[in-house]
Amino acid sequence: MNEKSPFANHSLRPYPTIFRNPNEEYHRMTTLLNVNASAQTEERSITRRLTQNFIDSFVSVCPAAQVVERDLGRCPPPFVNAKFIEAAFTPADDRAEWMIEKLSVSDHLIDEVIRSDVIVLGAPMYNYGMPAALKAWFDQIARIGRTFSFDLVRGDHPIRPMLSGKKLVVLSSRGEFGFEPGGIRASSNALDPAIAACAHYLGAEREEIETVAVEYQEFKDERHRRSLEAGLNQTVEIARRLATSA
Ligand SMILES: Cc1cc2nc3c(=O)[nH]c(=O)nc-3n(C[C@H](O)[C@H](O)[C@H](O)COP(=O)(O)O)c2cc1C
Repeated sequence: MNEKSPFANHSLRPYPTIFRNPNEEYHRMTTLLNVNASAQTEERSITRRLTQNFIDSFVSVCPAAQVVERDLGRCPPPFVNAKFIEAAFTPADDRAEWMIEKLSVSDHLIDEVIRSDVIVLGAPMYNYGMPAALKAWFDQIARIGRTFSFDLVRGDHPIRPMLSGKKLVVLSSRGEFGFEPGGIRASSNALDPAIAACAHYLGAEREEIETVAVEYQEFKDERHRRSLEAGLNQTVEIARRLATSA
């Protein structure tokens, strides 16, 4: 790609797949995709602590598991733009070189999802919804011909997901509280419903999503301490259960 290319910034360089346990003999074993969306680093981020806890607990039961790290907080995917849409909706065989390049990050991120069995999402609540980096990741993954098909023959439900069989675990943290169904801020929760709506692009059933939500972070009081402790315990329980059945 020449330096003047408007797509020069979209190279795969910032998006290497990082493996732990990259041992040949493990390649057919369970693969965890660990997606972190917190803009904060490990020292301060609660969701990074939860995802790390999940991975450690899973691997302690299932040592052959392979872990793929996708750090959206440190390296956010590009936003979808007009060129991306043009490339994505051009049939694969007709794509020009620039279109293939334009879709390369998306292809890479989709390949990571396809090879995973369990997707662990560290998803903080930002302004009642997803961090922009996580939304950008979903936008790169929802791709016609790769993660869904579209056919008006299906009437009112033209979208059909192409992936299946993945487990999705959402590990979240919020500064306020009461975002659960029936809670005092349930109607402001634009995070969990958005993840549930997009789960089919990841090959996960929305009814089977496992969610842990630590609350009260901004209050820094006893309620937060209890919520964090419960969240960590719940995370370990889910990880062990999934690892046992892996
Ligand atoms: C940019 C930003 C926006 C936030 N918006 C909300 C919000 O709308 N509601 C809420 O309860 N907490 C909100 N918070 C608090 C975070 O959800 C909370 O600090 C959480 O622990 C962040 O995840 P992390 O610790 O993994 O970084 C926000 C924090 C940041 C940095």
